[in-house]
Amino acid sequence: MKLVFLGPPGAGKGTLAAEVAKDYGIPHISTGVMFRTAISKHTSLGEKIKKIIDSGALVDDETTAALVKERLSAADARNGFILDGFPRTIVQAEMLKQFCTLDAVINLDISDEAVVERLSGRRICPSCGSNFHVSFMKPQTDGICDNCHSMLIIREDDKADAIIKRIETYRAQTFPLIEFYRNEHLLITVDAQPAPSAILENFKKLFPHNL
Ligand code: AP5
Repeated sequence: MKLVFLGPPGAGKGTLAAEVAKDYGIPHISTGVMFRTAISKHTSLGEKIKKIIDSGALVDDETTAALVKERLSAADARNGFILDGFPRTIVQAEMLKQFCTLDAVINLDISDEAVVERLSGRRICPSCGSNFHVSFMKPQTDGICDNCHSMLIIREDDKADAIIKRIETYRAQTFPLIEFYRNEHLLITVDAQPAPSAILENFKKLFPHNL
């Protein structure tokens, strides 16, 4: 299964991708995670992109596509993968077509109100990357990661100004991909409003394991 998860910031792409990756035994490839890892390790890429990411703007298409192309050449991606957060522009989608053939693009459909609620309550673990929400996916102990017991933090780009910028960026640059992939006959839109377990069950009906 070679899939792209598309949707506005906070739609739940990462949450669903993590579950699907576990369930189907394919890698979850998130450009956002790759960029945040580069920033936390202070690599030259990390230094170059930190301000862009924190502001809610997009990293340039060439840098992003080169990173994804390299990642998809790894052995674990040969039989399938989930691309979470890539492509995010028409130019990136055209670049992806040059090095990969997709099976489907899953478009997570959600209201703007829910997006703001999800992003403003999100807490992440800076050590293992686990994802929580102060109301919807609470950790067992407030502020502490269930998996590695580190203190949870708020992502820099989950602050109010950056959330607004990210939603604007999504509308201007990523939303047109819905039409792009509809024309490619790859688009499947799913309701991202229900609880994560219900969305996963719907996903499994669309992609039974024995397909
Ligand atoms: P990235 O990390 O990809 O951010 P994003 O697309 O804005 O997506 P998010 O991670 O914010 O949200 P999500 O949809 O994964 O939701 P999540 O599952 O976490 O990218 C960050 C930045 O990197 C970009 O702004 C850009 O600068 C750069 N970048 C990345 N890719 C790029 C590209 N291709 N080109 C250029 N630049 C790029 O869920 C959100 C919250 O809601 C969580 O708290 C979660 O617990 C909760 N939640 C999830 N599902 C549910 C549910 N069903 N019900 C209730 N709560 C839920």
